[in-house]
Amino acid sequence: LIEAVDAREILDSRGNPTVEVDVLLSDGTVGRAAVPSGASTGAFEAYELRDGDSERYLGKGVRKAVDAVLDQLGPAIEGFEASEQRLIDQALIEADGSDNKKNVGANAILGVSLAVAKAAADSADLPLFRYLGGPNAHVLPVPQLNVINGGAHADTNVDIQEFFLVPLGAETFSESLRWGVETYHALKAELKSKGLTTGLGDEGGFAPDLPSNRAALDLLMEAIDTAGFRAGTDIAVGLDVASTEFFHDGVYRFEGKDLSAADLIAYYGQLLDDYPLVTIEDPLAEDDWEGYEQLTRELGRAVQLVGDDLFVTNPKRLAQGIERHVANSILVKVNQIGTLTETLDAVALAQRSGYTAVLSHRSGETEDTTIADLAVATNAGQIKTGAPARSERVAKYNQLLRIEEELADAAVFAGRSAFPRFRA
Ligand code: PGA
Ligand code: ZN
Repeated sequence: LIEAVDAREILDSRGNPTVEVDVLLSDGTVGRAAVPSGASTGAFEAYELRDGDSERYLGKGVRKAVDAVLDQLGPAIEGFEASEQRLIDQALIEADGSDNKKNVGANAILGVSLAVAKAAADSADLPLFRYLGGPNAHVLPVPQLNVINGGAHADTNVDIQEFFLVPLGAETFSESLRWGVETYHALKAELKSKGLTTGLGDEGGFAPDLPSNRAALDLLMEAIDTAGFRAGTDIAVGLDVASTEFFHDGVYRFEGKDLSAADLIAYYGQLLDDYPLVTIEDPLAEDDWEGYEQLTRELGRAVQLVGDDLFVTNPKRLAQGIERHVANSILVKVNQIGTLTETLDAVALAQRSGYTAVLSHRSGETEDTTIADLAVATNAGQIKTGAPARSERVAKYNQLLRIEEELADAAVFAGRSAFPRFRA
């Protein structure tokens, strides 16, 4: 039984405050969870409550959310059986009472929701992935390693926010990760030799100024080759365009030009011809449903089109997308929706609708590794959690290495099968 719920303000990887929650059960077990935070957030995300008190942390304090956990959410769930996640999440949503969790804050709710699951897992003496996924949890995800950071995650001229290495040709997760790491180091050497900066962006990727977005893809192709891998066969590449960030008044401001959705679609088509591109996230803006319909018609059979700002991990928005044949994959970020139950619902809806699901970190992260366990629990086959640098990113990869060890011969690496649309 849930006996007590405690919360505090801690810091995330950008030095901004965030919420950490401890849930104590009557058998003495404790679950602890910390909440991530985005920079290129979607307009339809659940509400992140910040104090707005300019005297503290430039207004970004989360004392109100912490107080909401202590005064409202904790009392609302004390006495519940910790394994009744669905009832608990419902009680949390009701305690808030709004559509988008704006009263107590999705950051308050999520901290409690995840800490409950961790306490319940501990109480059942199970690793989190096993507790959440049951005996069928066994698929290790292909990592999308974001090794070049642009857009809102870097102070450079590169429009596209993220360029990934996707080592899908490996036999195991640990081999895949090693391939990605070796290529990351090759990329660093290459940047140095070209006189480009090797400073890091928010997600641990390099953040050089470059003549074009294609130049970033060329750097990846060269690094894959230098590291001794076959582009496409061993390591594919991917993008998070985060195009909502450069969509204003109906036009996409890209590489200094004003583009229509059709222009961008043509651009992606050319990229698909020229690079082993396996996934494109947020290729169009969060409200550009017509553009998305055209894009999915034209390119949806050849590449994974991932809705991040478009779907915001919201089962209702995803259902709309499925009905309109928009995109074919969903990015899954626990704090976009704010409870574990709704997150699992979004993944389940995607999976039974022929959409893939990609478990994801935020650009502001903590040492919390829940998403690694969630990726295996759902057998989603894909995870996006940054470069293999900066401990808040690496923590997730390290947790997957532990899970792989725990599963031993039962572990299956998703590999190419995670990308049913990719032929290269
Ligand atoms: P965010 O970026 O956490 O800043 O939103 C990650 C993403 O866009 O996928
Ligand atoms: Zn994104």
